[in-house]
Amino acid sequence: MTITDLAPALGLAGENAPWWRQAAVYQIYPRSFADANADGLGDIAGITSRADYLGALGIDAVWLSPFYPSELADGGYDVADYRDVDPKLGTLADFDDLVAALHARGIKVVVDIVPNHSSDQHEWFREAIDAGRGSAARDRYIFREGTGPDGATPPTDWVSAFGGPAWERVADGQWYLHSFAIEQPDLNWAHPEVRADFVRTLRFWSDRGVDGFRIDVAHMLTKDLSEPLPSQAQLDAMPQDGLHPLLDRDDVHEVYAEWRQVFDSYDPPRTAVAEAWVDKARVPLYASQQGLGQAFNFDLLEADFEAEQFRVVVTDNLALAAESGSSSTWVLSNHDVVRHATRYGLPHPGRAPGGRPSVKHGLEWVLTGGVEPQLDRETGERRARAATLFMLGLPGSSYLYQGEELGLHEVADLHADDRQDPTFFRSAGADFGRDGCRVPLPWTPDGATFGFGADGAHLPQPAWFADYAASTQEGTEDSTLSLYRRALGLRHALQTGEQLEWIDTDSADVLRYRRPNGWEVVTNFGQAPVDLDAVTAGGMAREIALSSEPIEGATLPGETTVWFAPQR
Ligand code: GLC
Repeated sequence: MTITDLAPALGLAGENAPWWRQAAVYQIYPRSFADANADGLGDIAGITSRADYLGALGIDAVWLSPFYPSELADGGYDVADYRDVDPKLGTLADFDDLVAALHARGIKVVVDIVPNHSSDQHEWFREAIDAGRGSAARDRYIFREGTGPDGATPPTDWVSAFGGPAWERVADGQWYLHSFAIEQPDLNWAHPEVRADFVRTLRFWSDRGVDGFRIDVAHMLTKDLSEPLPSQAQLDAMPQDGLHPLLDRDDVHEVYAEWRQVFDSYDPPRTAVAEAWVDKARVPLYASQQGLGQAFNFDLLEADFEAEQFRVVVTDNLALAAESGSSSTWVLSNHDVVRHATRYGLPHPGRAPGGRPSVKHGLEWVLTGGVEPQLDRETGERRARAATLFMLGLPGSSYLYQGEELGLHEVADLHADDRQDPTFFRSAGADFGRDGCRVPLPWTPDGATFGFGADGAHLPQPAWFADYAASTQEGTEDSTLSLYRRALGLRHALQTGEQLEWIDTDSADVLRYRRPNGWEVVTNFGQAPVDLDAVTAGGMAREIALSSEPIEGATLPGETTVWFAPQR
């Protein structure tokens, strides 16, 4: 059955909603996707060379993690120039080619904007260092005098998100704030030039045809740094109610209101999605149509593979999205967390290896990586497929992370010498960091880098990557890649109205929901098979996608999702 067969039955005509409301957005981590120039680092031309793969996947948009000039102190989230392509990754002309190739396949392009901090290699920061204390150039960042004899103690005891002190001393004795790595000085958002420059950046990429933006740590830009500065303990004790000195301040929305005018000055309007680790109740401020328009919701990513948790996450987030006039977002994996196939295959569901919580609050950080001898690969993959199919049926936008369509696992046992993530180094190895989900993709089952590039890969790929190669999965009906393609293809046609109706099932392990066009999704989160007739009251006959082995008779296997189309 094809989508065209389904379309008339489902009354798909007449839907005119903006593309981003129910999009499947595929995140590319450019340095690890495909390497066209054989230097071990993925590049822009590499992505373009895989445009057909992306087209065949059936996604609506690609989100590119930073590809700007960078010393890679934080995988590119340390940006040295916001309006250029890293020469290691290509040129602006290569970027234009990529946009053209994706647009030609009906795929929108979203780029990552990193406004909280620049790289210490940014010309503004170089200038600030050279210009010295009290200079206008320093005022674009957050410089302060230290305390104690000779000012040798940092201005405060604040801790950076990657561990260790949040202040770094420069040669003349002043200190600058870096909420993340030392090489990521925080910008001063009270400075009009900083604000004006980001507007210029948004226009620069919009003019080049970019369709939308992902806003990095959108809740951290504005700060109240009036003296005396509080201690870390005082900061931690303060409510995050819009007036916290560092996090989720109400005044950050003045920035986004200005950006909204930029977005809306284009036709079609450019879109944005906020990465904002804030209290749930405050997410709608970011997703507001007067602001960024959409915000990430990481609740599915933090949930165990468990029916009740999934039900609550969906219900709560649909309500929140409605409050802002936005649509919800759903994420199971991204470049900051342990891949969901691995999370679900660990004995501590939803936890990082070793039983530590996978999310560390405080500066809200998601930990990943580590060695986990008890990983059950098959269970992890089976649950991951079921969870993905559950997610792709939901109203709203699903954000997918490169490699999850291959069922790829985390590379947990990277050697310390090979690791790159500053979280690993700044925690002296206590946090394994995020490199394990950033290992270059396996395109073919053989070759020095499994088809990633001609030569080495910047993070070493394990031998078992061969089993997950895209080229092998392409021709295999029951592969994870085939499941993603089928589901994403169908989803294109099926995502019409944005409502969801829960339908009671007899089992606490089984969730069932229906969309306005009659499309139904049933997930058995339990291990035991369930009687499908009992669950669906015998009403649903046209199975259109299934996350595991075929249904025999009326028995839905354990840890499986099935999509049903309505009876004609
Ligand atoms: C975001 C990014 C993460 C990066 C951090 C600092 O959370 O997702 O990868 O390290 O911001 O820019």
